[in-house]
Parts: sequence; structure tokens; C-alpha cells
Amino acid sequence: MPDPAAHVATACGKIILLGEHAVVHGETAIASSIGRSAEAFAQFADHTRLRLSDDSGTWVAEQGSELDQAFHALLQVLHATRPVALDARIHIPTRAGLGSSAALGVAAARSVASLLGLHPDAVRDVDAATAWERVFHGNPSGIDVAVAARGGSIAYCRRLGARPVPMTAPLMLCLVQAGPRASTRSMVEAASRFLAAHAAQGAEILAAIREAVAAGTAALQTGDTNALGKAMNDNQRALRQWGLSTSVIDMLCADALRTGALGAKLTGAGGGGSVICLAPGRENHVLDAWRSRGFVGRTIRVGAG
Ligand code: MEV
Repeated sequence: MPDPAAHVATACGKIILLGEHAVVHGETAIASSIGRSAEAFAQFADHTRLRLSDDSGTWVAEQGSELDQAFHALLQVLHATRPVALDARIHIPTRAGLGSSAALGVAAARSVASLLGLHPDAVRDVDAATAWERVFHGNPSGIDVAVAARGGSIAYCRRLGARPVPMTAPLMLCLVQAGPRASTRSMVEAASRFLAAHAAQGAEILAAIREAVAAGTAALQTGDTNALGKAMNDNQRALRQWGLSTSVIDMLCADALRTGALGAKLTGAGGGGSVICLAPGRENHVLDAWRSRGFVGRTIRVGAG
């Protein structure tokens, strides 16, 4: 009897440490895995279906829904000729900008590839997960899928792909949700409209983010938390000018800095979603400040691989 565990696969969620949105426009960004993942289990069945579960329950993707379309797109890249049933569990908060859909796509690709008896091929799995992501996000840069597939911390740009960013140690960050996440697709479109309408200011914003990413990459490699915090603040200032922050994100960043954080910024698409901050030794002070406003955050360890 085949081992049912044989086709179980996982992939990790992520935060974007620096460079979100600019990465869509060809710049480099840094993303790090978080210690939460999605897992998927594929098996042959009478008809193709996708069943998902998370802390809130279990549901089957409706025929024709985005999830169902994404699963079919993934199966097409993997040349599945028989119907596949996939059961997936998400341990990553969804709609928080933490890469749950990319993690699910990568886990699904790995599991289905294993079921189909395909040789392990990271590039093919990334292609399949990218087809899945396009259904949700239109024109993703690919960074979410790249970090879900590789783990650790990566520098990613569209032209060159991903390369690991060696870190002196995993990083402890505070994370809080600043409200429901806006759709990545609509935030990416709004960011592109801004650049088209304000070319000169847009170029300055992209240059500021490029500098922050370069400084942050160097800081990660040397363990210079002050420099990393400054890079995060510079990046957040540019994202605010770009129109991607919100008053709640700004307030949570200001709370973090006031209580001793070295850096704070939105992570992911913005317009809501999550805020991260770097506050070595001051994490509890930041979490208390956020809690006093009714926002329950937590610490996360990122980039551990
Ligand atoms: C979303 O996690 C990151 C964005 O830069 C979109 C993308 O890169 O596809 C906002």
C-alpha cells in the first residue's frame, strides 16, 4: 500500500524586510521566512478539488473561484492528466501580508509533483506556484514564491532571481496586524498608477528604497541592528510618500519607535496588513504600547531557514 505521507509537502510564510513594491518595478527586495508554514497532501481522485483548513475551519474551494482557478493553473504547469484532490492546512495568518497564498502554492506544487512521480525540481515547483499566484495577484514580482520555496533570507529581483542573504543570526521582530490586508493586486496597481502620474517623485522614492535595501543588506550581514533599523525607517518613509501606508500603520510605527524600536515599517502590500519592528531587548515595551491601543502583536523569529 502506498505511504499516504509520501506526498505531504510544506512551504513557509514570509515577511518582506525591505523593498516591497519597488521589487515589482525591477528593484531588489529582501524577504525572510517566518516559522509558520502551509502543508499540502495530494492524492488521485475522481474529480479535482482543493480542500483547505485553518484555525477557523475547513472549506472546499468552489468551482470557478479564484482558489479553484489557481489550483487548475498549477496542475496545468505540472501536466497533471488525472484528477487530483488536494488537502491543505495553513498555519500562517491569512490576509495579513505574510505570504500564505505563496506558501500554499509552493506546498501544493511540491505535493502534486511528488504524487505525479516527477523528479524534484525547484524551478518547476516555483513555476507552478507562480501560475497559482498570478490568479490572485495579477503581476506578482515572484518574491513571495521565491522565499516560500527557499526559506531563510533572500535578496530577490525580477531579472536575477533569488540569492541567499547570510545573516549573523535569525532576527527577532515584533509583528502586529494593522487592519485587514488590502488586496495585493489593487495595491500593486495603485503603486504603478502613482509612478506613472508622478514620474520624478516616483524615481526619488525608488532610489530611496534602493538605498535602504542596500544598507539593510549590509547591516544583516554584519548584525548591525542600528543600521538595519534606520534602513527600515527610511523604507517606511518612502512607502508613505508612495501612498502605501495608512494612518493606523503610521501610528503603530510611531508607537514602536517611541517605545525604543530601532526601526518600524509596513511589510507586504500595505494599505492595512502587517507592521514589523526591530526592537532588540524592548520587544515587550512595544507589544505593551500596541496592546494599550487594542492591537495584539507578537514576536517572530525570521530568516532561520
Ligand atoms: C507582496 O508580498 C509584495 C509586493 O511587492 C508584491 C510583489 O512583489 O509581488 C507588494
